[in-house]
Amino acid sequence: MSVFGKIKRLPLQDAGLNNLVAIPYLLTLTEPVHTVLRMGLRQVEIINVQYGLSNTYTINGITATGYEFMYGKKPSGFISHAVSVLQHALEHDPEGALKSIYEPSNATFNISPSVDPSSFSNVSMESPEQFAMAFTNYEGIYELGKPYLPAFIASLTDVDEATKQFWPTLGTYSFVHNFVILEKIQEAGAEAVKSRFGNIWDTEGMDALYKDGWLYALDMTVFDSIAKPADNSSGRYTHATFTLLRQDAQSKALEPLAIWVSGENVDGRARIYTRKTATSGAWLYALQAAKSSLTVCGIFLRHVYLWHVLAATMQMTMDNTLPKDHPVYQMLAPQSKYTIALDESMLLLWNAGKPATSINTPLEYLTLSNAFAKDRGYFDDDPKVAMERLGLREQDFTQNEPWDLYVTIKDSLEIWDATEKYVNVCVDTIYSDDSAVAGDEGLKAWIAASSAVDEGNIRGLEQLESKAALKRLLTSLLYRVIAHGGTNMVFATFLVHLFAPNYPICLQRRDIPESSAELDTKQLLTYLPNAETIGLITSFYFAFAFAKPNEPFIPQEGVEANLFFPSGMSDPRNRALVDYRNALAQFINARAVLPNITGQWPLNVES
Ligand SMILES: [Fe+2]
Repeated sequence: MSVFGKIKRLPLQDAGLNNLVAIPYLLTLTEPVHTVLRMGLRQVEIINVQYGLSNTYTINGITATGYEFMYGKKPSGFISHAVSVLQHALEHDPEGALKSIYEPSNATFNISPSVDPSSFSNVSMESPEQFAMAFTNYEGIYELGKPYLPAFIASLTDVDEATKQFWPTLGTYSFVHNFVILEKIQEAGAEAVKSRFGNIWDTEGMDALYKDGWLYALDMTVFDSIAKPADNSSGRYTHATFTLLRQDAQSKALEPLAIWVSGENVDGRARIYTRKTATSGAWLYALQAAKSSLTVCGIFLRHVYLWHVLAATMQMTMDNTLPKDHPVYQMLAPQSKYTIALDESMLLLWNAGKPATSINTPLEYLTLSNAFAKDRGYFDDDPKVAMERLGLREQDFTQNEPWDLYVTIKDSLEIWDATEKYVNVCVDTIYSDDSAVAGDEGLKAWIAASSAVDEGNIRGLEQLESKAALKRLLTSLLYRVIAHGGTNMVFATFLVHLFAPNYPICLQRRDIPESSAELDTKQLLTYLPNAETIGLITSFYFAFAFAKPNEPFIPQEGVEANLFFPSGMSDPRNRALVDYRNALAQFINARAVLPNITGQWPLNVES
């Protein structure tokens, strides 16, 4: 238990957010101030990376560097300003600062960006290649990204290419978004899909596709929980969407065939687009609307909620119940730092620290998460459990090697299996048999606190009656911590994400074109992230990829340095830890596009 006593949680149930797991916070001599300061320092660390945005573009008749389009003529210093405002608030009225998370009207501090009058940041791109302005020349990223550009550009100009690339882009480069998300339409869900799409179910021959198992969906309707039919002060929108995809029986390729876009942000009337009947411009728009909801869901729900928030809740209850000399506490402690203060700081610094989404306030984020968390159990998103529920089978996504048509699953399973191996050795070393687990009072207290509505509020946990049950619990927790670190890596995924329309963080216009609307490329691009939005999301990605983690998972001194358990390599847990580190190094080296980046994968959830 912490020297400061029990870790507390935000009183979110008082705000009616009953599905959410507990969100812990720290108000100690060191946190969250230290985390907030570290977030500010990361922005300083990436200044050189931003200065590498030096290629020039001409937009609206203005010729300027990518840096100038995205950030104006001079560095904004906005985040440093926000950090010092927040630091001051935390030192003088910490309770008031915390309250601002869930009662925005009670905000005791105000962070508002200063506008640089020399900025052109509200300009839309005029042609697709201009989105390459996010490719910095730092570390040769521009040159590494260049070979991808023709395909990226085609995804905005060529309707066949855009349709073809939609699933491979989402299914391949989304491990960091925890995108185990595609679902086969099964009996339980078929009626709801039919009624959502009306007569399109028949005109597109969906009944046969569904019955033969070739119909899939990407359900992003959760965004209607925070939709508002009014102008968003940020000028950014995420529409709820629902995409149906058809799988080809021979090639197993998946292509979107119909997209539903909610009108809740506009006039309440949904629009439905099909590949066959929509104009090219409207179909390209619909693909982008779907991708923007998928991107926001990936970052804020599947990554932040499932990986940061749930991990922090379990770490809180562990800290509040297990004695520090408990072997499970000792096993998890090295990887349980930073998360709680990070989540807290993210909510406190919402206006400055988050990427440029349409989610305006921390309370809006919590409301969205509350809708997402409804009926979700702790284990439900473990990759193998989720795959079973979603009807995802290896043979359906395998062409040449397992899961090569859904690489995110392949990546997830590789990290899951390495984590499971390590956890299994730890549990087998700590506990001689099932009864030793069942009789462990500390573990009982941890599970009770995690499940209690007025403590962890986590659903779906089970009593730990066996070693197998404990292994399952710990693998699920450590997987979240470890998988999260993938965010820091310069893999092909990083290059793909830097080109904003591949994973658009928002739409820049509220209106929804009709399926019959004629939109040329320039008009289409007015719906996509503008220079300011691209700048914000780019800095967000840079802070992961180019700022050093507090502690790396693989020590710089070598895989046998900084072992977690006493008695060196004679302890099987340490040997398993070394194997775990080697497995991760192999995972990194198979994907890295820059040399020597194994030290970039963090040990904790820390950024
Ligand atoms: Fe994260």
